[in-house]
Amino acid sequence: VFAHLVRAPEDPILGVTVAYNKDPSPIKLNLGVGAYRTEEGKPLVLNVVRQAEQQLVNDRSRVKEYLPIVGLAEYNKLSAKLILGADSPAIQENRVTTVQCLSGTGSLRVGGEFLARHYHQLTIYIPLPTWGNHPKIFTLAGLSVKTYRYYDPATRGLDFQGLLEDLGSAPSGAIVLLHACAHNPTGVDPTIQQWEQIRQLMRSKALLPFFDSAYQGFASGSLDADAQPVRMFVGDGGECLVAQSYAKNMGLYGERVGALSIVCKSADVASRVESQLKLVIRPMYSSPPIHGASIVAAILKDRNLYTEWTIELKAMADRIISMRQQLFDALRARGTPGDWSHIIKQIGMFTFTGLNSEQVAFMTREYHIYMTSDGRISMAGLSSRTVPHLADAIHAAVTS
Ligand code: LMR
Repeated sequence: VFAHLVRAPEDPILGVTVAYNKDPSPIKLNLGVGAYRTEEGKPLVLNVVRQAEQQLVNDRSRVKEYLPIVGLAEYNKLSAKLILGADSPAIQENRVTTVQCLSGTGSLRVGGEFLARHYHQLTIYIPLPTWGNHPKIFTLAGLSVKTYRYYDPATRGLDFQGLLEDLGSAPSGAIVLLHACAHNPTGVDPTIQQWEQIRQLMRSKALLPFFDSAYQGFASGSLDADAQPVRMFVGDGGECLVAQSYAKNMGLYGERVGALSIVCKSADVASRVESQLKLVIRPMYSSPPIHGASIVAAILKDRNLYTEWTIELKAMADRIISMRQQLFDALRARGTPGDWSHIIKQIGMFTFTGLNSEQVAFMTREYHIYMTSDGRISMAGLSSRTVPHLADAIHAAVTS
């Protein structure tokens, strides 16, 4: 009965790893998926994560019962505090409902499904470009996806004028997807002044902000600084949605641990929103897994573990920043044609190189370097040892 099926293409990001795994070359390099690697090119389990897991294992009172539909209560509270700030009036006034979801993707999907059922405007504006999964998540959730201008290839920076024009002409009430920090794939973020203008424009048109916060702590190395845009929007008393992921900032990729917070106008509305979120979640996956959320809660509630986490997080962010400098220096040393200053100006896990799909294909074919076809490279996958190889490949790609 399935004989008529055509083979579906691999995922544009995760498919890069599939191709990489098939390559027998000893010099191969995977700069596709945004996953942190050490200087030795190995995945990293944070020390604090190991310590928290040890605590969990030692605690014989822990059981494997189902979590409630909305997940681990303590985890939800701590996650809201992490993104909104411990002193957030919205939290103090009980206007925030937070549900544990399956990492960023699951949080976005639950939020999208909730909006499709209960919000009066079914159009969501996403930046152009954006993470490749965004349009698919929201389309399947039942929303109608439109784009707003974001990145200017000419300047390799923000198209702020285009962004203001497009959001300015969006219909009142439309949903707007915003990357909280470290925009994926471009690494280009608005300044705080520009965020303030975006906030004013959106509030004046009653546009509903839906933040995707996948990199808190990764852009600047500071959890608070990276949460600033979200806090500006929550600080004005208006509504918003926030999807959080601990994949990158705690290295909990495969644990699938994230959260969706919906900031409402009153405690009463928030509790009704939560009751409806449960109706979205129960038929989808019933309730979320317990292990990852328990790790996060153990770290966030313990002052020592929390401090140690911020130090490890900063070390990851700093290593990425140093990779940017090293790659930039290596291209300059080779006299590679072009202005590569965007490598050090962009922030977060990715550099949007400006290389086109032919150049990317060339680098994969000739140098065994794997990256997404839009020219995005994961700086977190690079090390001092592999920078020269990447610089050689880029140099060859732009000069051949
Ligand atoms: C990425 O953009 O590489 C990451 O967010 C991983 C993913 O799921 O695509």
